[in-house]
Amino acid sequence: MENNKIINAKILIIDDDVNMMDILSVVLSKYGHQVKTFTDPVAAIEELKANTYDILIVNYLMSPVNGDRIIELVREFNKEIYIILMSMHKDLAPSIETMQTLDIQAYFEKSSRFDQLILQIQSGISYLNQLNKIKNMNIKLEQYLIDFAKILLNTVGAKDHYTEEHSRRVSRLAVFFGTRIGLNQKEIKNIEMAGVFHDIGKIGIPDYILLKEGKLTQDEYDTIKLHPIIGANIFSISHIFDDIIPIMLHHHERYDGKGYPNHLKGENIPYLARVLALCDSFDAITSRRPYKNETSIEYAISELKNNRGTQFDPELCDEFLEMINEYGENLFKIMRGETNEI
Ligand SMILES: [Fe+2]
Ligand SMILES: [Fe+2]
Repeated sequence: MENNKIINAKILIIDDDVNMMDILSVVLSKYGHQVKTFTDPVAAIEELKANTYDILIVNYLMSPVNGDRIIELVREFNKEIYIILMSMHKDLAPSIETMQTLDIQAYFEKSSRFDQLILQIQSGISYLNQLNKIKNMNIKLEQYLIDFAKILLNTVGAKDHYTEEHSRRVSRLAVFFGTRIGLNQKEIKNIEMAGVFHDIGKIGIPDYILLKEGKLTQDEYDTIKLHPIIGANIFSISHIFDDIIPIMLHHHERYDGKGYPNHLKGENIPYLARVLALCDSFDAITSRRPYKNETSIEYAISELKNNRGTQFDPELCDEFLEMINEYGENLFKIMRGETNEI
């Protein structure tokens, strides 16, 4: 489905009745639609996988495979196509349950009059156009909000350059590590965003604490500890960030329950927050901090080992250590964005 408004639809018809398909083809083409017909369901499914269609018209009772089974297969890879099921007689109509579970939008009873079908195709076209409009609106809104969040991050960066750079490094590392441990595409996208914005709440921490060179007092440290909550509050402005907020909010929880802000323990800590915690700590250990000297990758390894099962999820920690063993200093290239793979 293209972003442009559909006027004439690309239609695929599957029917074992060749004569019927020929008639349909002629009628629908007259209305300006592009029609392709198939008697072989396997070939039709291949075609639907390879090319984009707006509307699928399937005959219900066919041999060797019935229409509802074909639709089931199509719905596995295509949730958007508008499906019209057709049948010979009313008594042979599919059940309402079938219509619902297979997300069939319309039902057409075969007859020599096609005005009914033409109308159904028209409503299919307006449905698809509406769907497109909503999708575009959401994409735009999402982009605006992400841009807005980036401006906030730049604002943090203006006063605390470390946090901005650190966030980008953590995000890149989280994508690399996440891909390695088999996160799905959506999770990767979420952890990438959470990585970029996990410390955004530092915008609400006074500069004299954030940029302090010496050791922090307990009070000052308690103030810094508010940053996950502040970040989560900022991002609660839109449901778009719903999946990211728990990762941001809990990136300082510890596996033994002694972390903050909610003292969550073990698997109660959202999985992606446990993943991010490792990436966050690795960067914190290996990068220059105002109050800490630069440390080596060996030091990071010993820190991770020492805190395995207490601060870090033990299994994820093992996976992370394995990654360090495999890639060593090359991980820094990933974190600096110099390469996507090594
Ligand atoms: Fe943090
Ligand atoms: Fe951080």
